[in-house]
Amino acid sequence: MLLEARNLRIAYGDATAVWDASLEVAEGEIVSVIGPNGAGKTTLISAIAGLLRWNGGTLRLGGVDLARVPAHRVCAHGIALVPEGRRLFTRMSVEENLEIGCYVPAARAARDATLERVYGLFPILRQKREQMAGLLSGGQQQMVAIGRALMARPRLMLFDEPSLGLAPAIVDDMFDIVRRVREEGVAVLLVEQNVLKAMEIADRAYVLEQGRIVSSGVPSDLLQQSHIREAYLGV
Ligand SMILES: Nc1ncnc2c1ncn2[C@@H]1O[C@H](COP(=O)(O)OP(=O)(O)O)[C@@H](O)[C@H]1O
Ligand SMILES: [Mg+2]
Repeated sequence: MLLEARNLRIAYGDATAVWDASLEVAEGEIVSVIGPNGAGKTTLISAIAGLLRWNGGTLRLGGVDLARVPAHRVCAHGIALVPEGRRLFTRMSVEENLEIGCYVPAARAARDATLERVYGLFPILRQKREQMAGLLSGGQQQMVAIGRALMARPRLMLFDEPSLGLAPAIVDDMFDIVRRVREEGVAVLLVEQNVLKAMEIADRAYVLEQGRIVSSGVPSDLLQQSHIREAYLGV
């Protein structure tokens, strides 16, 4: 198993935000975590990305105990995050933003080849490589954020609500990009409020509510459950 979380508990001070969450992502898989606002999705993904420490349970990547990996080394172990809201350096160029993703020595050594791969995936970014990132459209900025994560040559890419704030017309493009990331050999853990899209793209999914994983399985089965149909699809 590539990523394995067992009974993960994550708190902010005394307030526990994620309770005993267990989930797995295999090589080459797209796994979605759906849940309402405030459910703990960002908390969970932040812990996996090394940005938050957990209070209980275990987190392993390719068998390596991530509790032993300092936050700044998580990236070198193969996990890259596409954060909510993209977090680009808006006054720096597209290419400078991409460069930031490859500070890991192994990734830096492969910089030219990886940059070609990113420009191959997103030809528009090659055209705009010298432009300030802040001047790009929302969809193009999302491409930069994904390209920056790819520059680290990850084994697992974490997406926090990638469709949030995008114009409806480009939400489908965004999910196509997630599929292409998988075709590049990168496993994906995707957190979304756009339940239908997140289910459509996923091999497996988990439902997170009030900090607890309440359901999991293949999307076609989950979409049959009356609770999920009522709570998320309004049917
Ligand atoms: N930095 C923080 N400090 C304290 N509580 C937080 C912090 N970030 C999130 N929370 C709380 O943790 C819970 C889960 O939040 P979050 O992980 O952001 O949910 P989601 O991403 O699913 O909307 C919420 O109750 C939220 O108020
Ligand atoms: Mg969130």
